[in-house]
Amino acid sequence: MQMRKLTDHTGVEVTGVDLTEPQSAETIAALNKAFVDHSVLVIRDQHLSPQQMLEAVQLFGAIFHQHNTKFALPECPQIHYISNQDFFPDGTRYIPGEGWHTDHSNDTRPPKATILHAVQLPDRGGDTQFANLTEAYDALPQATKDRIANLLAIHVYQSTHSARKLMGLSEANKDRIPNAVLHPITRTHPNTGRKGIYINPIRIEGILGLDHKEALPLLDELLAHATEARFQYRHQWRPGDLTLWDDRCLLHRANGDYDHAQTRYLYRVMLEGSVPR
Ligand SMILES: [Fe+2]
Repeated sequence: MQMRKLTDHTGVEVTGVDLTEPQSAETIAALNKAFVDHSVLVIRDQHLSPQQMLEAVQLFGAIFHQHNTKFALPECPQIHYISNQDFFPDGTRYIPGEGWHTDHSNDTRPPKATILHAVQLPDRGGDTQFANLTEAYDALPQATKDRIANLLAIHVYQSTHSARKLMGLSEANKDRIPNAVLHPITRTHPNTGRKGIYINPIRIEGILGLDHKEALPLLDELLAHATEARFQYRHQWRPGDLTLWDDRCLLHRANGDYDHAQTRYLYRVMLEGSVPR
């Protein structure tokens, strides 16, 4: 197994491993360490069935139950699919993952990781961008760190401030997820102990105790800072990529900049996380 850093701060490429095979304790430990140290793990050249993917990702943790079961694979419902071939009820195409966000932060215990496995890709475009929120936190002015130190954000399924619309939840799905949760805007990573900014423009409805006139510009300022190019890794997908990322310290976004007549289809799994603190 070989590893190669993709930027100074985020991302490592892993080659020479076949996740359909049993892995040694050393390999499992090295993969988990690389995940914690580099936040994005790109394992190349995997060709996994849904069942094989489910087994492989459990080297990193327990499976998290994703919220919108509309996207569950019928034969393997713990895996959801990401596809550009679905449409909103009004007939407009649904491009999943556009706009900066972190996954399922409206959960009491948001996932620690998301894993995508590329099944079918457009000829070009459709990159996923990642922004490192611990690097971004470290670079904040002290006054901003002090200002956000004790703030709590209100996370909901679909923020009324979000430019991006999500696919609606069924009544059964609504019944099993909270209406709203509070998470700190300054979050400490449970494995590294590093502080990071924890924001999510698609899910944050407001900041507890602040009116929108104060909260929304602050969230915009934090987002603009966190997504500066110096904190980013941009992933160009290759067939067979299995990409894991740390939802506790990254924002990500998909790009809809490709020919939508071509199918972009990936399997998605999430891993259980902890209460953000
Ligand atoms: Fe996402």
